Amino acid sequence: MATRQLIIAIDGPSGAGKGTIARTIARWLEYRHIDTGAMYRAVAWKALREGLNLADAAAVARLASDATFGLEGAVTIDGEDVTDAIRTAEIDQAAAIVARHAPVREALVARQQRYGEQGGVVMEGRDIGTVVFPSADVKLYLDASPDERARRRAGDSAHALGRRPGPTDAVARALEERDESDRTRAVSPLMVAPDAVYIDTTGVPIADVTRQVEALVKQALARAVEPQEADRNR
Ligand code: C5P
Repeated sequence: MATRQLIIAIDGPSGAGKGTIARTIARWLEYRHIDTGAMYRAVAWKALREGLNLADAAAVARLASDATFGLEGAVTIDGEDVTDAIRTAEIDQAAAIVARHAPVREALVARQQRYGEQGGVVMEGRDIGTVVFPSADVKLYLDASPDERARRRAGDSAHALGRRPGPTDAVARALEERDESDRTRAVSPLMVAPDAVYIDTTGVPIADVTRQVEALVKQALARAVEPQEADRNR
């Protein structure tokens, strides 16, 4: 018997714990971890660097479909390491703007589907379970209260670059604006897929969330056992 490599989709707003959980699960299973938010961020970064108007959907989409991405370890776009450069308040905003354009999403979604088509992937984002892989083996939606998400983001050094340490209020406001934009956009808004497992991580230690997710993944692995040729012919 062989076990098929799964597709694990993790969606939710920023600060809900997607990154931590996705990384842990990918390491455990030796799967690839794809942070699709980093792709929207890298495209926004490059569009700004090239002086493009972020409202110009066609120009940004052209950039997105021509770009090459590196997403394992360092984040690169067209060979340039942008790991730190994409974690600024300016790129938080710019990424949410480019993510509203349907042609930009089409270019990146096609890429994401190629990355995951063989399975063996933990993919995190906003539309993975709804649009990119609607038939993913495991579909999770991680959430947390706005206060807790803002607190996590304020204390998250990966997101602190380019931001003066300030009251959590400012982080909370920026986060709310971005969530609002992600939830209300016309194309692929952030929403809970009807068949996703909804996990509220407010006040829950990360180790507990990880255990809960591991249990769901184990169930999916048990379902993914395929009889091999020899077993089938027996
Ligand atoms: O996850 P992260 O905060 O890095 O994502 C940055 C932005 O990229 C989000 O605010 C959202 O607008 C966009 N995004 C998206 N779809 C995804 C991942 C990210 O629209 N699958």
